[in-house]
Amino acid sequence: MEMMYRRTLLCFLFFFSCTLLLQQQAFADKKSYVVYLGGHSTNSNEEIIVNSHHELLGSVMGSKEKAKEAIFYSYTKAINGFAAVMEEDEAKEISKNPEVLSVFEDKAKMLYTTHSWDFVGLPNNIPASSLIPNVNGSTDVIIAHLDTGVWPESKSFSDDGMAPIPSEWKGICQNENITKNFTCNKKLIGARYYYVGYLKNGGSTKNTKIGPRDDIGHGTHTLSTSGGAMIPNVSFFGFANGTLRGGSPHARVAMYRVCWQDGGCYDTDVLAAFDDAINDGVNLLSISLGADPAPYYEDSIAIGSFHAIQKGIMVICAAGNSGPYSATVTNAAPWIFTVAAGTTDRELLSILQYNGKSINGVSLTQGLPSNKPYPIITSTKAFLNSSSDNLTDACLLDTLDPAKVKGKIIACNIGPETIKSQINEVKRAGGVGVVLVNDVTFGDQLLGYPFNLTTINIGYDDGQNLYKYLASNKSAMAYILCELTTFGNKPAPQIADFSSRGPNIINEEILKPDIMAPGFEILASYSEAVSPFEDPSDSLHYPYAFLSGTSMATPHVSGLAGLLKSLNPTWSPAMIRSAIMTTATILDNKGGVITDMASMAPGTPFDYGAGQIQASKAMDPGLVYDLTPQDYVNFLCALGYNSTETKLFIGKQKCPSTPIEIQDLNYPSITIANLSGTVIINRTLTNVGDEGKYNVSYVAPKGTSMMVLPTKLNFGKSGDSKKYLVFVTAVNHTNNDYQFGMLTWSDGKHSVKTPLAVKMHHK
Ligand SMILES: *[C@@H]1O[C@H](CO)[C@@H](O)[C@H](O)[C@H]1NC(C)=O
Ligand SMILES: *[C@@H]1O[C@H](CO)[C@@H](O)[C@H](O)[C@H]1NC(C)=O
Ligand SMILES: *[C@@H]1O[C@H](CO)[C@@H](O)[C@H](O)[C@H]1NC(C)=O
Ligand SMILES: *[C@@H]1O[C@H](CO)[C@@H](O)[C@H](O)[C@H]1NC(C)=O
Ligand SMILES: *[C@@H]1O[C@H](CO)[C@@H](O)[C@H](O)[C@H]1NC(C)=O
Ligand SMILES: *[C@@H]1O[C@H](CO)[C@@H](O)[C@H](O)[C@H]1NC(C)=O
Ligand SMILES: *[C@@H]1O[C@H](CO)[C@@H](O)[C@H](O)[C@H]1NC(C)=O
Ligand SMILES: *[C@@H]1O[C@H](CO)[C@@H](O)[C@H](O)[C@H]1NC(C)=O
Ligand SMILES: *[C@@H]1O[C@H](CO)[C@@H](O)[C@H](O)[C@H]1NC(C)=O
Ligand SMILES: *[C@@H]1O[C@H](CO)[C@@H](O)[C@H](O)[C@H]1NC(C)=O
Ligand SMILES: *[C@@H]1O[C@H](CO)[C@@H](O)[C@H](O)[C@H]1NC(C)=O
Ligand SMILES: *[C@@H]1O[C@H](CO)[C@@H](O)[C@H](O)[C@H]1NC(C)=O
Repeated sequence: MEMMYRRTLLCFLFFFSCTLLLQQQAFADKKSYVVYLGGHSTNSNEEIIVNSHHELLGSVMGSKEKAKEAIFYSYTKAINGFAAVMEEDEAKEISKNPEVLSVFEDKAKMLYTTHSWDFVGLPNNIPASSLIPNVNGSTDVIIAHLDTGVWPESKSFSDDGMAPIPSEWKGICQNENITKNFTCNKKLIGARYYYVGYLKNGGSTKNTKIGPRDDIGHGTHTLSTSGGAMIPNVSFFGFANGTLRGGSPHARVAMYRVCWQDGGCYDTDVLAAFDDAINDGVNLLSISLGADPAPYYEDSIAIGSFHAIQKGIMVICAAGNSGPYSATVTNAAPWIFTVAAGTTDRELLSILQYNGKSINGVSLTQGLPSNKPYPIITSTKAFLNSSSDNLTDACLLDTLDPAKVKGKIIACNIGPETIKSQINEVKRAGGVGVVLVNDVTFGDQLLGYPFNLTTINIGYDDGQNLYKYLASNKSAMAYILCELTTFGNKPAPQIADFSSRGPNIINEEILKPDIMAPGFEILASYSEAVSPFEDPSDSLHYPYAFLSGTSMATPHVSGLAGLLKSLNPTWSPAMIRSAIMTTATILDNKGGVITDMASMAPGTPFDYGAGQIQASKAMDPGLVYDLTPQDYVNFLCALGYNSTETKLFIGKQKCPSTPIEIQDLNYPSITIANLSGTVIINRTLTNVGDEGKYNVSYVAPKGTSMMVLPTKLNFGKSGDSKKYLVFVTAVNHTNNDYQFGMLTWSDGKHSVKTPLAVKMHHK
């Protein structure tokens, strides 16, 4: 009871750095590392590969036995490398070996959620899914997540009406030695877990149950958003009533658990999950976690997804929650589909009415009894006679006088005790409702909770006005209106303030993020092992929760990608990404350019990439930009890594004899990072629709002139490819910030849109 809400929040915010500090002290000498050897160049069997890892590390440690003891993962399937506990000297030494591509410390990645309870009172439903028609006759698609596990009993993972599991599936339901009752089915076809890296880095099994069962909530939420079955009539304590469904409600799903309590999703565990998932035969990987940008060779997600894409597995990742600051986007390798977060147009408001005024607030409670106004007083006018007169106006335990409170609404300041205990105090004293007023620090950050008494939370400034009025009117009356649903009364979508932004600091030539999807106050299934309010002291459990973050945007794109894959089984990951990007919109529901929630200013492709997903348009893109696994290899070769490094990374594949220009990677966006004179970009479009004549139109970035050749492209039947060239010339060097443009190919039916970002060379 004494656990404070605000203390809880602080812990969540700072826990991550706290645990890292503790670990560094505890493991000063030996640390766990990833030794990355690239791809497999021969078809060696597992035993031979494991042995080669022992020998390699043994050559540095002095004996194979020591190496065997030190190595805790051997990656033998899609990825070549191992995880080992070593001294820093040993790590340095082994990195000099010509067989070794990189050696990097095992670091924790974070889940890309914000704190749900800050926002739960203003919930939005999933809009994209309502656009998606029922798919019948579509082929099996397996969507896998690397996340916090899954709550298998959730209705989202019911396998009613599903056909038997495809025989090619090699995944397992890893539930031995764990809760006997964790079971997979024809919907949730696989679950594995990876925790050795977590333990090696000081993680404890005290706070987290080792196994695939989600005791955090994040994984259940994201997995149900991408591939959850339809659940009619779902609401969050009466709010946001509607059908809950994943973007690909007919897909199969699988969970690879890599994240544990206290913020640990370690590189060594992440790589082990990739290695299995690629080998198990998943079609898409959805990853809602990440860390600061790092070179590709030292980033477990970049490495894992490179090997995935080489096997035709699409990887969709969250851009990060470090916005609104620029150059914060993560998971930005060109073989990753990088997702930003936006808001939706649905809001559920609650309103406090007094003296003819209506104040917007947040509530997750039932309305007032008999739906009528009641007298309202501040708690300072309701103290027990025995109470000391210096009490704060916060409805503290055993301070209110039932004689003064009965039948009234009480206005209290938030904290310092738990909010639940404040509400209980008003209830004990016979109040009918509470207006919870924020302090300066909380400002307008409102929260909702399903209290057992009508409660509305209002902002600091609104609260001060209310107090002033109550001081002037001893017989004031108020009314609390709960659960008012409003649609489209604000520009929507907006770019979520927390969503990470471009440019991409690892490769400025690749525009990131790629796309935006709903990631603000998203309702989805949840783990019933934890409170949906992320308060460890809260015993409330519920099958659904609202969460916000690029974590939540990512599975919307994964669900849509899964749907496209099932409709077009032969499409490559690049074709699916292109279809989603070229059909996206940069306009909001008011017809203006999508604005930034943080500044209210119009956004740019560095905020939303190609724009907000449009599910039904993505199903008929007309033309797509395709890329093969070899194209990504060519890209790496073009980055100027030396031949040894590249050879290790790409295994059997080779660099082209003449290197490509990075900007010529056939990406569905165009970036020129240092324009001087004229740059020629070349792109290839492939028809995936009917024969058609397409014309080009474009808006050149400010300070440039642009030409596209040819200006018309006539496509034959589906599969036909055509090249075009874009000439971009610097005409005005005054402004050396990024400027943005748009290039559109249209046949009257389809608009194939490609964003451009250009920065002048500084003169
Ligand atoms: C798919 O088609 C079958 C047979 O035509 C039908 O019974 C089933 O209801 C359909 N499923 C959906 C989800 O439309
Ligand atoms: C399960 O327990 C058995 C016997 O103790 C052990 O050999 C096996 O490695 C355990 N499996 C896992 C996944 O921990
Ligand atoms: C079975 O699963 C439920 C969750 O549905 C859990 O609460 C319970 O402890 C589990 N029982 C056993 C025996 O593991
Ligand atoms: C929907 O849920 C509400 C509340 O749980 C219930 O009262 C109502 O009967 C349900 N409606 C349908 C159509 O199932
Ligand atoms: C939710 O919606 C369903 C169907 O539209 C309706 O039957 C039900 O009464 C609603 N429940 C609530 C609590 O509004
Ligand atoms: C407190 O004092 C007021 C006025 O003196 C009185 O009306 C009220 O009954 C007292 N309350 C209690 C609980 O004694
Ligand atoms: C309030 O008064 C009590 C005694 O009546 C005293 O012990 C306490 O320190 C005071 N608190 C503040 C914040 O002044
Ligand atoms: C809510 O309060 C009522 C009485 O006012 C009580 O009967 C009920 O058990 C409470 N519910 C919860 C969930 O606390
Ligand atoms: C005080 O509030 C009551 C109830 O809302 C209202 O009827 C009355 O006019 C108000 N008095 C003043 C002085 O504003
Ligand atoms: C490639 O680069 C690595 C490290 O950057 C270096 O150790 C290695 O000697 C280089 N190889 C060649 C062939 O230049
Ligand atoms: C287009 O790009 C390819 C691959 O980089 C290159 O070989 C070709 O010369 C380019 N074509 C033109 C006209 O620039
Ligand atoms: C060049 O750009 C600057 C800043 O955008 C603008 O003030 C100036 O008028 C431009 N000059 C020409 C010749 O377009």
